[in-house]
Amino acid sequence: MIKSRILGVGSYVPPRVYTNDDIAAMMDTSDEWIRQRTGIEQRHWVEGAMNTSDLALAASERALESAKVSKGEIDCIIAATLTPDHDFPGLGCFLQAKLGVPGIPAIDVREQCSGFLYGLSIADQYVRTGTYKRVLVVGAEVHSKGLDRSPAGRDVSVLFGDGAGAVIVGACEGTPKESDSQIYSTHIHADGSYAKELWVAAPGSAFGKDRIDHELIDSREHFPKMNGKAVFLHAAKRMPEAVMEALEKNGKKIEEVDLFIFHQANLRINEMVGKQLGIPSEKIFNTIQKFANTTAATIPIGLDEAVKAGRLKKGMLVASAAFGSGFTWASALYRW
Ligand code: COA
Repeated sequence: MIKSRILGVGSYVPPRVYTNDDIAAMMDTSDEWIRQRTGIEQRHWVEGAMNTSDLALAASERALESAKVSKGEIDCIIAATLTPDHDFPGLGCFLQAKLGVPGIPAIDVREQCSGFLYGLSIADQYVRTGTYKRVLVVGAEVHSKGLDRSPAGRDVSVLFGDGAGAVIVGACEGTPKESDSQIYSTHIHADGSYAKELWVAAPGSAFGKDRIDHELIDSREHFPKMNGKAVFLHAAKRMPEAVMEALEKNGKKIEEVDLFIFHQANLRINEMVGKQLGIPSEKIFNTIQKFANTTAATIPIGLDEAVKAGRLKKGMLVASAAFGSGFTWASALYRW
């Protein structure tokens, strides 16, 4: 049976850094509040006309280089984002054009913070069935252009950063041994009854003939709204469940996992997940301090940062889990 593995990883964040003090100069918040409640110290935001496909392109090129795969060898693109360049077509099409690889499929995934793991899951199925051999999975976000900087939006706006991360998923050579690099399994879930707990309402077909109007803009419906407490509670329950699902599926124990690369919504959520599962804190690789929450880009940025920091090495067993808007949640167990 064909199995897949991650062949390489890359990431890109825009150069401009905004500290919590920079944010406090723009809206009614403080470094102390942000740091204590979330662990965030800074985030990267784009400048000028830089958009999501620009970030995705830079991360994809780095992932290709790391995988030693040429762009002509990719046979499918899966792009996860909640902040596409335009309403339609999707990020995948714009990225494909910038990469200069016409003809191959470009699939958009819209599962927010779980988007990268959803994309990884799709790539894994395609490779396992022999449909595609080398799939580019990219998560990219430009949040900074869609945040409510008025007092009404401060609970959400301090949380998000811009960035992109990508991996190349390819087939293992032959049947991998237990200790070889491979994706063991991926697990994806959703519960749409909580869709409005974290969402952007407008523009949309739920409204009048123009999908958006001045009234919607005046009532700030084009900005994200969040029930922070509900998100926190569900994330702290679903992420441990998803990790255990992946371990049980593969007959592995929590102690066998070398590194946990979780989604980064709030440092406190990850600390609670670690506590519930009895994971020593040094095994959880957090990046929220530097990048804040970059939604679909978070996990591949985390992987790339962990490689660069020497924390993620060949042969390590890695577990990832994410939770986000939808609600959606997901996990993956893989050997690097
Ligand atoms: N700066 C300063 N004060 C703020 C603030 C900000 N950016 N945002 C909210 N506050 C204030 C509130 O107005 C409230 O004031 P009050 O007590 O006078 O009414 C107070 O801080 C507490 O607000 P609350 O919403 O109860 O805070 P919280 O403890 O729930 O923390 C979050 C807020 C957003 C940090 C937390 O709910 C969270 O992290 N939730 C999960 C978010 C998440 O994961 N989102 C992404 C999903 S992938």
